[in-house]
Amino acid sequence: TSHFNVLGIETSCDDTAVAIVNSSRQILAESIRFQHNLHEPAGGIIPNVAMMSHQRNLPEVVCDALSKESLDIVKDIDVIAVTRGPGLPGCLAIGLSAAKTLAAVLRKPLIGEAHALTARLTHTELIPFPYLTLLISGGHTLILVTHGVNKHTQLGTTLDDSIGDAYDKTARLLKIPWLKGQGGGPGAALEQFALDGTSDNYRVPIPMRKDPRRKNEMNLSFSGLKTSIRDLIEREQLDLEDEKVRKNLAATFQQTAIRHLIDKLELAFDWCRVKEIRLNALVISGGVASNKSIRASLEKLANDQFELPLICPPPRLCTDNGAMIAWAGVERFRVGLKDDYTIDHAPKWSI
Ligand code: KG4
Repeated sequence: TSHFNVLGIETSCDDTAVAIVNSSRQILAESIRFQHNLHEPAGGIIPNVAMMSHQRNLPEVVCDALSKESLDIVKDIDVIAVTRGPGLPGCLAIGLSAAKTLAAVLRKPLIGEAHALTARLTHTELIPFPYLTLLISGGHTLILVTHGVNKHTQLGTTLDDSIGDAYDKTARLLKIPWLKGQGGGPGAALEQFALDGTSDNYRVPIPMRKDPRRKNEMNLSFSGLKTSIRDLIEREQLDLEDEKVRKNLAATFQQTAIRHLIDKLELAFDWCRVKEIRLNALVISGGVASNKSIRASLEKLANDQFELPLICPPPRLCTDNGAMIAWAGVERFRVGLKDDYTIDHAPKWSI
């Protein structure tokens, strides 16, 4: 098939998302149901609640996406794609069993995929391989060389918490309220909070710099950062009732996280240079990549030091979404990759 449409289903975490993308890089339809209101009171995602909400909403979200462009699932959809991981096992299982049943009954190919290719859908031109990918979300903290659709070299990953976890835990420590009616959870709220703060007043160590064994490796570490912030609060007996103090702490956390990302990306660029891999871009994706301060700093790094463009999907398509899954389905189907109807969820899938 030269032209085809893919229906993508994404239920890995808290949002139920479906999109239809065609092989000419057009997003035909998107439908999403947020669960934000269900989880905010608890300050984090409650797996059972998320699972039940997917179960309730998914059929309607699928129908809604199809009806937006009056598409018929039998005639107009050629491939079903779904997130296999990473994510919450129970949540992944709901999307996966829906996708498998649709694919099996309709006799359509099934593709179980996660991200890393979204920027090739959203950027004005198709980005040629290879490029350096930084995947930063609640489930990932990965530095990869993306050589092709199914070909990645993992240069580094987190040794402990993901960067998204570090944002979420720090947001909770600093009692930062979630943004009303917007996605992005605690991380986006921390970003907003940090805008009015300054990182000039406090010093916290940049992860791994002082460790002679680890400082030259491309892996990352984020668990110590939250602890450093907590220690700082205790040591200086900072008053968390004071909003200015909390804003400064948020800015300090964020600035330190960015410095750590830059340290490791510099090592990754050097590694590619030594291996004579001619990169075409730095691509960042994942929920945390919608952070504007991170984008601005990494854009400066890529442009000024390495003469590469920084490419990132629009924030809406950085977080879990149906279009990225549908697009991964397009890319994989085109090179002949298909999955069996018996595939399982993969909660710890790395890419
Ligand atoms: O990719 P994603 O939607 O799903 C998971 O991998 O779970 O990423 C969610 C993570 C959460 O930790 C959330 O707090 C964080 O991304 N996040 C952000 C921002 N928007 C979402 N972190 C920092 N700044 C943001 N603007």
